[in-house]
Amino acid sequence: MRTVAPVSELQALVHEAERPLGFVPTMGALHAGHAALVRRCRNECATTVVSIFVNPLQFGQGEDLERYPRTPEADQALLQELQCDVLFMPSAREVYPAGRRRRVSAGPLGEILEGAARPGHLDGVATVVATLFDMVEPDRAYFGRKDAQQLAVVEALAREWERPLEIVPCDIVRDLDGLALSSRNAYLKPAEREQALGLSGGLHRAERAWREGLRDAAELEVLARSPGLHYDYALCVDPAGFGAPRPGGPLLLVVAARMAGVRLIDNILLGGQQPAESGWVCRQT
Ligand code: PAF
Repeated sequence: MRTVAPVSELQALVHEAERPLGFVPTMGALHAGHAALVRRCRNECATTVVSIFVNPLQFGQGEDLERYPRTPEADQALLQELQCDVLFMPSAREVYPAGRRRRVSAGPLGEILEGAARPGHLDGVATVVATLFDMVEPDRAYFGRKDAQQLAVVEALAREWERPLEIVPCDIVRDLDGLALSSRNAYLKPAEREQALGLSGGLHRAERAWREGLRDAAELEVLARSPGLHYDYALCVDPAGFGAPRPGGPLLLVVAARMAGVRLIDNILLGGQQPAESGWVCRQT
């Protein structure tokens, strides 16, 4: 694995790389969910590039930019083990050179749900992802389904891309007890983590009710809410575009809650085309 920081070095490697070139953008603090993205990229692409960059633009004021977990040595060791070809670890100055104020808008999707709770967050994601796509020039890019709205924003971005670029959505990876893996889970104390399980537990409850025939979105939303959690939202949306669900159509049940100051999100698709890898994947031990 080659680890590079300057964009010029990255681009020299990328221009010589075998295609298709797959890209997994991350903010580091890698866990089994990231490993699943990298494994899939390795299986499907001749070259795998992973980036680690904690993007300041996607953190709002008072959010956890400073304390966001950073584990560069462990990340490098994991990526080496996964046989990643190139690890790109740019500085903020490489990504956002002084005087070059490129900003990419996430559009209307950037203003609802996560966008409403974290103003500017999805514009920050769109900006860094577009910038990284320009630098890495991937043929495919791998994103987890846990950040469903981020995935939708990136898919919209890729549709307007000047080069063909396939976005590959990958299943949510869960801990053995069902909690969706997230670098921010590291903030939770054991008792808080136990309570946070209510998030996936609620989704599971709603999914069971869906399988037993319940189709009323409002009732599913009520079922999804577990006691003891402070929900920002528990909402059924149309998976295509996040608008109101279409009558008889599939539902994406999205939830966000705060637990001891940690914002947790999760979702489950009810109906429609289920992800190839099945909906409830637990991490490999
Ligand atoms: O999902 C993440 O880790 C980040 O939002 C991403 C896509 C790497 C952009 O910073």
